[in-house]
Amino acid sequence: MAKELRLICTSGELVESGKGFRFTIKRHGWDAPAFVIRYHGHVYGYFNECAHVPAELDWQPGEFFDDSKLYLICSIHGALYAPDTGRCLGGRCQGKGLKPLKVCEIEEQIFLEQQDNG
Ligand code: FES
Repeated sequence: MAKELRLICTSGELVESGKGFRFTIKRHGWDAPAFVIRYHGHVYGYFNECAHVPAELDWQPGEFFDDSKLYLICSIHGALYAPDTGRCLGGRCQGKGLKPLKVCEIEEQIFLEQQDNG
């Protein structure tokens, strides 16, 4: 099974604890919303889906961080998530975290790592 890299955006499009980059990923035949953010210099990717109810997190397109820039926050009821693990840190996510995606940064570009089953 080979690993396939899909280009998401350039490194310059993700500033530290700033706006995230939204994209979609095929899941069970549907285009599921997803995003990448930069935190402490590293890039992290998640499905854009709150663990409380499957709603998108961002309060404006690409705005995932709270005012402190330390947490990802759900715009609906304020659940807080750790940017580096997606772990639930408080609120209605009640111990359930975000679903992570494998992403990597190579030569100023950010990629989604996908398994090529072909
Ligand atoms: S939908 Fe995210 S906290 Fe309720």
